[in-house]
This record gives sequence, structure tokens and C-alpha cells, in this order.
Amino acid sequence: MTMLRPAGPDDTETVYAILSKSMRLTWSWDAICAELGSNLAARVLLAEEEGEAAGCIHWWTVFDEAQIMNLAVRPVYRRRGIARLLLDAAIRSARGEGATAVVLEVRAGNAPAIELYTAAGFRTVAVRPGYYEDTGEDALIMRLEAGENLDFSCNLP
Ligand SMILES: CC(C)(COP(=O)(O)OP(=O)(O)OC[C@H]1O[C@@H](n2cnc3c(N)ncnc32)[C@H](O)[C@@H]1OP(=O)(O)O)[C@@H](O)C(=O)NCCC(=O)NCCS
Repeated sequence: MTMLRPAGPDDTETVYAILSKSMRLTWSWDAICAELGSNLAARVLLAEEEGEAAGCIHWWTVFDEAQIMNLAVRPVYRRRGIARLLLDAAIRSARGEGATAVVLEVRAGNAPAIELYTAAGFRTVAVRPGYYEDTGEDALIMRLEAGENLDFSCNLP
């Protein structure tokens, strides 16, 4: 069974390991330490399977907007709905803190992530051509607006 819990400074190694094994360009150790320690806008949730770290989501809530900074699931745990759970929990939490929109940036070639976000109701609102230094890929800016009932998570399957 998947359990979600907020990550704190003691989870730096775990979060770093998940991100560095999943993302091509990842946050540095120092940056993750700061996110889990001193950045008051940063939130990180860890997903655990039988006590093993399986994935994490990292976002900032700033005024009425949440920005998803990282979402990753370790390869062995993929396609079990863990990212969907993490995304749903982050959206609910951001909504609880007053966010009326959630934004994120994704590589134009990252079909799994784009599928996930689209299924959750995100729409592409802008493209940053050649944004990623390593491949020259475009970045898609995707955005989820609160509906009239402000219930983001009802968009999730
Ligand atoms: C993208 C990622 C987080 C998805 O994690 P996951 O736990 O496997 O995703 P889920 O099992 O919750 O999948 C939810 C939905 O996302 C979509 N999806 C996920 N993986 C997919 C894939 N490989 N191909 C197509 N669609 C996919 C599907 O719509 C899926 O629903 P379904 O299983 O009912 O078809 C994971 O592949 C990952 O960590 N990738 C590397 C890091 C990354 O790219 N993060 C996003 C940065 S913006």
C-alpha cells in the first residue's frame, strides 16, 4: 500500500536519490537541502511502498499559485498510480493553502508526464522553444485552473 508523508530535512538523501535517478537535469544536493530546510514556500511529499521510498513531488505555493518543481517515481514503482496519488495530494494541499491555479514545466518529449498532467486537467498555455540545455528540447508550460467549485482533484481519474 502506498503511504504519503511530508518530507523534511532528514529526507534529503532520499529525495536526492529519487530525483537524480529519474531526471536528466536534477537539483543539486545543496538546493534540495534548502528546499527541505529553509525555503518556506517549498513543500515535498514522499510516497512510500512498504517503507521503501518510491517517489516524491516538490512544489512551491506562492500566494494563489502553486508551481510544481519536481515529480518523480523510481522506475521499479512506475505505472502503479503513484504519480497520480502524489499529484492529487499536492493539488489538494495547494488548494488548502489558497492556490487557485497550479503550473508546471515539462519537456515537450516527456510523453508519460504530459499524459499524466493532461489526464489531471492541465492544459498547455505556453511553449519555451529550446529551453532545455542538454537536448535543446522545448518546455511546455502547463496550467490547471480551479473550476468554479475550486475542486482540482475532481479532474483526476
Ligand atoms: C512521469 C512519472 C512521474 C509517472 O509516474 P508513474 O507513477 O509511473 O505514473 P502513474 O502510474 O501514476 O500514471 C498515471 C497516468 O500517467 C500516464 N502515464 C504514466 N506513465 C506513462 C507512460 N510511460 N506512458 C504513457 N502514459 C503514462 C497515464 O495516463 C497513467 O494512467 P494509466 O496508468 O491509468 O494509463 C514517471 O514516469 C517518472 O518519474 N518519470 C521521470 C521523471 C519525470 O519525467 N517527471 C516529470 C517531470 S515534469
